[in-house]
Parts: sequence; C-alpha cells; structure tokens
Amino acid sequence: MSAQTSAIRVDLAGRGYDIAIGPGLVDRAGELSRPLLAAPRVIIVSDETVAPLYGARLAASFDKAGVRTTSITVPAGESSKEFGAFGRLMNELLDRRPDRKTTLVALGGGVVGDLAGFAAAVLLRGVDFIQVPTTLLAQVDSSVGGKTGINTRHGKNLVGAFYQPRLVLADTDVLDTLPRRELLAGYAEVAKYGLVDDPAFFDWLEIHGPAVIAGDRARRAEAIERSCLAKARIVAADERETTDLRALLNLGHTFGHALEAATGFSDRLFHGEGVAIGMVLAAELSARLGMISEADAARVERHLAEVGLPTHLRDIAGFAQEGLADADALMALMAQDKKVRRGRLTFILLEAVGRAVVSRDVEPALVRDFLKAKLAESA
Ligand SMILES: NC(=O)c1ccc[n+]([C@@H]2O[C@H](COP(=O)([O-])OP(=O)(O)OC[C@H]3O[C@@H](n4cnc5c(N)ncnc54)[C@H](O)[C@@H]3O)[C@@H](O)[C@H]2O)c1
Ligand SMILES: [Zn+2]
Repeated sequence: MSAQTSAIRVDLAGRGYDIAIGPGLVDRAGELSRPLLAAPRVIIVSDETVAPLYGARLAASFDKAGVRTTSITVPAGESSKEFGAFGRLMNELLDRRPDRKTTLVALGGGVVGDLAGFAAAVLLRGVDFIQVPTTLLAQVDSSVGGKTGINTRHGKNLVGAFYQPRLVLADTDVLDTLPRRELLAGYAEVAKYGLVDDPAFFDWLEIHGPAVIAGDRARRAEAIERSCLAKARIVAADERETTDLRALLNLGHTFGHALEAATGFSDRLFHGEGVAIGMVLAAELSARLGMISEADAARVERHLAEVGLPTHLRDIAGFAQEGLADADALMALMAQDKKVRRGRLTFILLEAVGRAVVSRDVEPALVRDFLKAKLAESA
C-alpha cells in the first residue's frame, strides 16, 4: 500500500479481511485484489449513477492486472434491493456463466453493497466478493461487518446473510462526486461512533468535522479510518449481533427508524438524517432520565447542527406543511422495529458523551410524553 493508504484488519477467525482507505484506490483495485482472487475473473455490480463515474476506471484497473471483467448495472436507489430486482440480478449474473472461482465486485453505495453481497452469498452457493464502497455511509458502515440483504414487503433487510467480503477498498476521492446531502447522511454514522464509545473521537470531530464535510483529504481519511476501526472492533467482538455490544451501534436508530417510517421512507428524510435527529432525541431522553446533563445533550445537538445535519423534528422536509405522525403513532412505529424484544422498547441511551448503554427498562409512558413535548416544541 502507498504511504497515503491505511489498512485496517477486520479480525474474524478464518475470514479476516483488510479495509484499505485512501485516495486513488479505484485505479489500484486490480493490483490490490489480484492476490486474493481464486481465478482472474470478476463481475462488477454497480448502479446507474456510479457506473458511468467509476465503472470504466475500475474495469481498466482489473484489466491491467490481467483480470477478466464483465459488468452489470442496476438502477440507482433502494428499489434495487427489492425481491424482484434481486431475482433479475441473479439471472443476469448467471447469464455471464460464472463459476465458483468468480469474484463479485460491488461498486457503489450501501444499496449495491447489500445487494451484491447477498448475491455473492447465494450465487452458486457462495462466491467471493470485494467491496468498493462509494458513499460515506458505505465506507464507514455498510461495507464493514458483513451484513448483506434485500427488502421484502415485510420490511427492509429481512432476507439476507452474514457474509464477509475478501477485501474492502474505500477510495476517499470518490466522495468528491457524492451529493452533499448524502455525504452529511453518512457523517451521522461517523459521529455515532464517537458518541457510542470513543469520546476522544467525538472531541476530534467537534474540531475537524466541518473540514471532513468540506473535503479536507487528510481529515476525511482519518474520520473514515477511525470509524472503520470502531466498527471493526465491535464486529470482531460480536459478529452476529448476539450481545449488547453491537446493539450500541443502533444509537439514534430506534427514533430514527420511526421517523423514516413516518415519512414513508421517502426523500423527505434520509436514513442518516433520521439517525442524526434520533441521536439528539436519545441524548435528550438520556438527560431527562438524569443520565447525562442538559449541557451534554446540547453538545450533541450543537455538533450535528454545526456540520449541517437536521437535529429537530421541524428540520424534517415538509414538517411545517405535512406535519408528522403524533406521539402515539410514533410509539407504534417504534414498537414495530425489529429491535423490539418481548414487546419492550429497547433504547440505546447515553451515560456520557462517548459512552452509550443499552436500556430495556425505559417506561413507555415517559417516552410518549417526551415525544409529545418534542412535537409540540417543533410545531
Ligand atoms: N449492511 C449493513 O450493515 C448496512 C448498514 C447501513 C446501511 N445499509 C444499507 O445501505 C443502504 C443505503 O446506502 P447508501 O446511503 O450508500 O445509499 P445508496 O447506495 O442508495 O447511495 C446513495 C445515492 O448516491 C449515489 N452514489 C453513490 N456513490 C456515489 C458517488 N461516489 N458519487 C455520486 N453519487 C454516488 C447512488 O447512486 C445513490 O443514488 C440501505 O439500503 C441500507 O439498508 C446496510
Ligand atoms: Zn444507520
């Protein structure tokens, strides 16, 4: 690897892999992947936005390394994770006559990563795959940890597999073409790692976060690296989400998912935006429960707002015109979340800025009153 590239090892017995982070990795993908390939054949899966931007360069780099490539492009957006779209992809993959030594390469955001990763898990009962994540969210979150999956009418990601890639190449240059709103949505997950268990990282983000957003190369790479380290550490300790540890990564997500559902999973609220508002709500609820101070909760809000993320219910697009579900409806949406165990709401709360805990005994009535107050305050 070059001086500018850093590598993080994800330790998993027998299936460990590297995450390379740095500039220019799309053009070095062939050279870096070649030693890991079972045979010099890859199929690149990308979407209609990313393929025209980086597809040719990625294919050329494999070509240069003596690796034969073909490419498949799916429509951009969450609809490509629908069951029908998945079936079409599987047939297109089989049209290319892959064998067990063919490797799939996912070039794109979390949608392409989840889709191609699950395809790799089941194509011919499993072929290798490599991730080339192109959104900040994919670089710091979805490409790390081995969760793959698709959507059904019962909900998102309910069909899938834990399936680890052989290599992740996070090229920091590709973020230059990412729309600012997508970049910010990914940043919410970056801030989350600081809030969950790395107070020094949150301190760092308070200073350098605006530069990360503005495109400062070195700071961007450092933020991605520290985020991947945090997730890799947690995943290595709890690969299949069986303990509370990995659950901490759901900070802001119980509230966030309810808000996403209340806005119909539409462009009104991106996932990361829901997480940002959700983390502020979690911090405020923690303050209300006396776990952190009001000043700490305000600190969380201030940082997310400073970089440009929405932090209040009224920041949700169309809130003034269309409103939002009432507190009871939001409670019902939270109860539908798959993180519910035996009918109780699980919340990830803060004990400090930089220390999250799983809480299963929050009084539902208290949460409802809290949401009522928040809705009234935003109106
Ligand atoms: N597997 C996991 O652990 C995990 C974790 C979090 C999220 N996810 C999944 O990730 C998905 C969301 O991922 P996402 O936010 O990356 O969305 P996405 O893949 O839809 O990408 C967002 C948009 O940005 C475009 N884009 C991607 N890279 C670009 C670039 N470099 N330049 C310009 N445009 C670019 C895409 O075409 C798309 O339109 C969801 O389906 C979610 O369920 C999975
Ligand atoms: Zn998330």
